Amino acid sequence: MTIRHIASIALIGAFMAACGNPQKTVVNEPALKDVVEGKFLMGVAINTNQSSGMDTAAVKVIKQHFNSVVAENCMKCEVIHPEEGRYDFTLADEFVNFGVENNMTVIGHCLIWHSQLAPWFPVDEKGKYVSAEVLKQRMKDHITTIVQRYKGKIKGWDVVNEAILEDGSYRKSPFYEILGEEYIPLAFQYAHEADPDVELYYNDYAMNMPGKREAVVKLIKQLKEKGLRIDAVGMQGHMGMDYPDINEFEESIKAFGDAGVKVMVTEWDMSALPTVRQSANISDTVAFKKSMNPYPEALPDSVSKEWNSRMKAFFNLFEKHADVITRVTAWGVSDGDSWKNNFPVKGRREYPLLFDRNYQPKPFVQEMVEAWKDSVDAVKK
Ligand code: GLA
Repeated sequence: MTIRHIASIALIGAFMAACGNPQKTVVNEPALKDVVEGKFLMGVAINTNQSSGMDTAAVKVIKQHFNSVVAENCMKCEVIHPEEGRYDFTLADEFVNFGVENNMTVIGHCLIWHSQLAPWFPVDEKGKYVSAEVLKQRMKDHITTIVQRYKGKIKGWDVVNEAILEDGSYRKSPFYEILGEEYIPLAFQYAHEADPDVELYYNDYAMNMPGKREAVVKLIKQLKEKGLRIDAVGMQGHMGMDYPDINEFEESIKAFGDAGVKVMVTEWDMSALPTVRQSANISDTVAFKKSMNPYPEALPDSVSKEWNSRMKAFFNLFEKHADVITRVTAWGVSDGDSWKNNFPVKGRREYPLLFDRNYQPKPFVQEMVEAWKDSVDAVKK
C-alpha cells in the first residue's frame, strides 16, 4: 500500500467521521496537492495581497490546493535591499510567516539576479561599476543577511537566476561584467555558509533549449567539482501554445537528473495568446495591437481545449518524471493575477494559470482532481 493510499484512506476516515459528527472533524476538499501527494510538492507564487491575507478568495485557493509557496516579487533585491546598508523585510517577513503558519514549504526567490536588482548594487556613487572586491563583499552581505534571517523557515533558495542565455553563453549582467563566471560559485558558497542546511537551486527560463541545457549541465558539474552544494535546477516553465517543445523539455529534465540534481518546475504558466517574437519587453509606447489581444472577453472553447490539453500533457510529463521532479510551482494563483497580462504586451487579457479569474479550477485541473477522487472512492469500496 502506497503512502498515497494510506492518505486516501485517512481522508475517507475523516470524511466518515465528519458525517457522523460534522462539528468535530473538518474535511479538506480534495485538491491538486492531493493528486500529486507522494510525487512532488504543488507550489504557487503569491503576491503581497495574498500573503497579507487581503485577497481572501485567492488565499482560499492557495490553502486548499497548494503546499508550497514562493514570493512573486517581495524577496527580490530592489524590494528587500533597496539601498546600501538598508534592508526592508516587511513584506518578506509577512510572506514567510504566511507559509510557515499554513504549514507550507517556503521557497526563497531569488538572491542574485540582474533584473529587479536595486540600482545601487553594482555601481559606485558616480554610477561606475564597483571593483570585484566590492561586489563580492556586497553579494556576501546581501546573501548572508537574507539567508540567515529565514534560517529554518525557508527550505531552499533560488541562489542565482537567469545567468545563461539561450545559446549557452553567459549573460553579460553586471555580476558577470565585474566578476566573470566566478560570481555563480561565489553566490552558492556564500549561501551555503549562511545556512548549511538550506537547499540551493539554479533557476532559469528556456531550459529546454539544447545550448542552455548543455551550459547548465556544465555549470552543475563545475559547482560539484568545486565541492559546492547545488540541490536542484529550476526550470521556469513560462510556456506558450507553440513553445517549448515537450520532447526538448523532457530531454532537459533527464539531463539535469543525470547530472546529479533534482528538478523543479518553478514558474509554470502557459500563455493562451499569440506568441510575440520580440526578445525585449514591449513598452506601453508601442501601439496596442488588437491582433495581440484577441480574446478580450473570454477564451474561445477551441483555444481553451487546446490550452487544457497542452497543460495536461506537461503535467503528465512532470508526473512521469516524479523521481527527479520534487516541486511544480505555478507562477500565480488565478488568471487575473498573472504577470502575463502585461508581458510582453501591456494590458492584454491572458489566461495562463491553473485557476480562472473567478478562482475556479481550469478543466484539466478539475479533471485530475475528479480522477483522484474516483481512485479514493475505489479504495473505499
Ligand atoms: C522571471 C523571474 C520571476 C518573474 C518572472 C516574470 O522568470 O524569475 O521572478 O519576475 O520573470 O514575472
